[in-house]
Amino acid sequence: MAAVERAVTIEDLRQLALRRLPDFISRYVEQAAGDGGGVKRNIAAFRQYQLVPRGLVEVTPVDTTTELFGRKYASLFGISAVGTGGIYRRHFDEILAEVAREANLPYILSGSASASIETVARIAPEQTWFQLYGAKTDELTDHMIGRAADAGIKVLVLTVDYPIRPRSEVVERTGVSAAAGPTLRNFPSLFLDALRHPAWTADYLRHGGIPKLESWAPYAPPGSSTKEVAHFYVDNWVCNSTWRDVERVRQLWKGALVVKGLVHPDDASRAVQAGADAVTISNHGGNKLDCMQGALDSLVFVRKAIGPKVRLFFDGGIRRGSDLIVAKALGADHCFIGRATIYGTAAGGRTGAKRAVDILQNDLTYTMAMIGCRTNADVTREHVTGQATP
Ligand SMILES: Cc1cc2nc3c(=O)[nH]c(=O)nc-3n(C[C@H](O)[C@H](O)[C@H](O)COP(=O)(O)O)c2cc1C
Repeated sequence: MAAVERAVTIEDLRQLALRRLPDFISRYVEQAAGDGGGVKRNIAAFRQYQLVPRGLVEVTPVDTTTELFGRKYASLFGISAVGTGGIYRRHFDEILAEVAREANLPYILSGSASASIETVARIAPEQTWFQLYGAKTDELTDHMIGRAADAGIKVLVLTVDYPIRPRSEVVERTGVSAAAGPTLRNFPSLFLDALRHPAWTADYLRHGGIPKLESWAPYAPPGSSTKEVAHFYVDNWVCNSTWRDVERVRQLWKGALVVKGLVHPDDASRAVQAGADAVTISNHGGNKLDCMQGALDSLVFVRKAIGPKVRLFFDGGIRRGSDLIVAKALGADHCFIGRATIYGTAAGGRTGAKRAVDILQNDLTYTMAMIGCRTNADVTREHVTGQATP
């Protein structure tokens, strides 16, 4: 049995991923922004809460299905957008789409994905949602929206949490960009790192280096190399969305629109007024700033501001089934995971990605039964004690 199949927790998968990935990549995932405090705080925010079980309730079989935008999914969680995933594992996006299809979970394909929109939508036509940042010109942004619609995608996720290009101290130190890969200038310092992680390095060399950003390749000049596409992407990817963009995208996109990356209650309310069908509370998994509050700390306040009916999604720091329950109890309708499936896929490809999903799903159903909840609707604020009350 492969080591990933023996993993019992997401932390086990994380350890396996850290062993396989070179340091310049794993530090980038682990530290994210600044000193890495944002990632840690997202996880710590969950530890402020404890569960309060109810007894003598009929709990079997536990039913975690959730309806979102008129479609039924199998659980309380989906897989969130991760850009340039091919650096963790070749065919990262395709693997996650397959796993999401089999598990019937929503899968948000990143607007900076290594795979193309069309490829992933073909793999998981019912589960794929598309995430958009926006590009330098409206023309390019609109073309991506059109491609998502033509590919049959029904949910668009507009990420709005990067007003400027994010900084990573790890990337500044190593000089290695996730999209373009190492250059000869930084190669000497990476040489030992690569030698210490032979499985990743062999894979990298066998496939000819960093994969091309297929999502952006059609926009770069014809015949562009991987590096040229990466540079085109870096020059043309613009993250400074404003309310005008939300309103413009709302006009263009006929399907469900999710605005991802807000934490302030007033911003969430305004997104709903601008026509969003759902809001995702997210601080980009701590990648935005190291000194932000945990994403979970916003949840009750945002729920109070937007009222009980608007769809509210949450991500940031989810590593256990109980985290999903805490988020649900505090007001989330649905949650998303980022690192949990990065760890699984990096550690063991498709088997590892599936293991990450199974670990969370098994832990979720176990914990729901233990607190006396048979369905998601049974999880209430009373099942959780601790911290923030609006
Ligand atoms: C390495 C990495 C890359 C990411 N890339 C994107 C992206 O391209 N688009 C996006 O909207 N969010 C992106 N995110 C944020 C995730 O979608 C999600 O909000 C976050 O990972 C959730 O936190 P968690 O990792 O603790 O589960 C990325 C996160 C990580 C860690």
